[in-house]
Amino acid sequence: MNTVLLASNRGPVSFTLAEDGSLTMRRGGGGMVSGLSEVVKETDVLWVCAALSDGDRGAVRLAPSGRLDQAGYDTGPVRMLDIPPATFHRAYNAVANSTLWFVNHLLYDTPNSPQFDMRFRREWESYQDYNAAFALALAEEAAHGARVMIQDYHLTLAPAMLRVERPDLRIAHFSHTPWAPPEYFSLLPDAISAELLSGILGADHAGFLTVRWASAFMDCCEVLLGAQVDRAERTITYEGRTTRIGVHALGVDGDALWARALEPDVESHMTALRERVGDRKLIVRIDRTELSKNIVRGLSAYKQFLTDHPEWHGKVTHLAFAYPSRHDLPEYREYTAAVQRSAKEIEDEFGGEDWDPLILNVDDDYARSLAAYRMADVLLVNPIRDGMNLVAKEGPILAPTCALVLSREAGAAAELGADAIVVNPYDVSGTANALFDALMLPEEERAKRGTRLRAAATALPPSRWFADQLAALDHGASGPQ
Ligand code: G6P
Repeated sequence: MNTVLLASNRGPVSFTLAEDGSLTMRRGGGGMVSGLSEVVKETDVLWVCAALSDGDRGAVRLAPSGRLDQAGYDTGPVRMLDIPPATFHRAYNAVANSTLWFVNHLLYDTPNSPQFDMRFRREWESYQDYNAAFALALAEEAAHGARVMIQDYHLTLAPAMLRVERPDLRIAHFSHTPWAPPEYFSLLPDAISAELLSGILGADHAGFLTVRWASAFMDCCEVLLGAQVDRAERTITYEGRTTRIGVHALGVDGDALWARALEPDVESHMTALRERVGDRKLIVRIDRTELSKNIVRGLSAYKQFLTDHPEWHGKVTHLAFAYPSRHDLPEYREYTAAVQRSAKEIEDEFGGEDWDPLILNVDDDYARSLAAYRMADVLLVNPIRDGMNLVAKEGPILAPTCALVLSREAGAAAELGADAIVVNPYDVSGTANALFDALMLPEEERAKRGTRLRAAATALPPSRWFADQLAALDHGASGPQ
């Protein structure tokens, strides 16, 4: 039996199935998963996650009770759940990614969507089943009084479901996304928003990345659920139980990031990039091609900057890395096409024989991203809304004199805003001016700001972030104020 358990949709590893039926294991992707993988390596945590693909399902079926480590894989303790594919897809694509992600990032084009009809009700049932599968597995694996750390919007119902099965457990939920204000959250049907909020309130401790998202959650509980909220104490009391609200601003392990960024594959990408761009200044962005990341407006801002400042022609290149994401959803496929169209417009208007104004890369390459960070003069991070945004933290660690242009709607702005050039992500002209200001920022000022940005970015590395939440469950504390 396990005394600390972690639950998330995406696990630390994934499998691909070759034509001959053989399975290849890869380490999981994404900021949250790689941060947590480092943490659990050092502690004895059982990680419960979902099978995401046919490859994963193949591996689970060969593992006793889904325990990958007991099937001989070097994963640390992992139980992967083989949730029926149709249930999984409705829960993950239709509810988690197309609905809850859209609500919390304010992404809807409201004259046209959402529409919560009978089809959505069926999708919601799958989301309930998916959460119940996690709650059941956690109930089976947890020792008496164990601590269970449930992650993200995929698993909002699991805390309350688990509490019914196992009232002895200490349960935490953590939201890695923003939280919507009540007037937007209430787009969801009333019964569903109540189920969702009370699902999280099944936890003893509900964690958020910033004060702003924690406050929005408290507002939703008060307005939409009628819960009793104590903002000074950061507690919510509902149906006789009290949940503590914590703020834990996930940061970066700077030493580990540097160790990786000094490896030879990164150095060779730096050499290749330098050959391509010469001594031009570099404006860098690194994102998943994700609707909330605001890549199209970022490109429009760069275009506007080039129009306003012909003196910079030939002296600057924009490296835009936009990696594929969630291509099961049509909105994401369309968005990727829109990014490519915007890039082409810039190349057509400004590009010439001896100058690439823009280099857009749409294929994933971590070593190349690290090379770009190290060479950046300006880092552009302009999401329309973001839980934290670890790019804004990784960049200043690897590029000590890089100027940061940062959206005020990224969670990271709470910690980094004072030393960044802060923009309204919808204001394309404002962002164009910010790019110019960032390029013109004097060297000494960059260095001063860089030192402070690095200190803030490394303040709460994943290991401390995780330990703080375990401690909050032990002591009933609500985290730093
Ligand atoms: C981002 C968010 C996380 C979320 C993850 C899911 O990294 O910050 O909150 O869990 O996306 O991404 P996926 O690729 O697994 O759908």
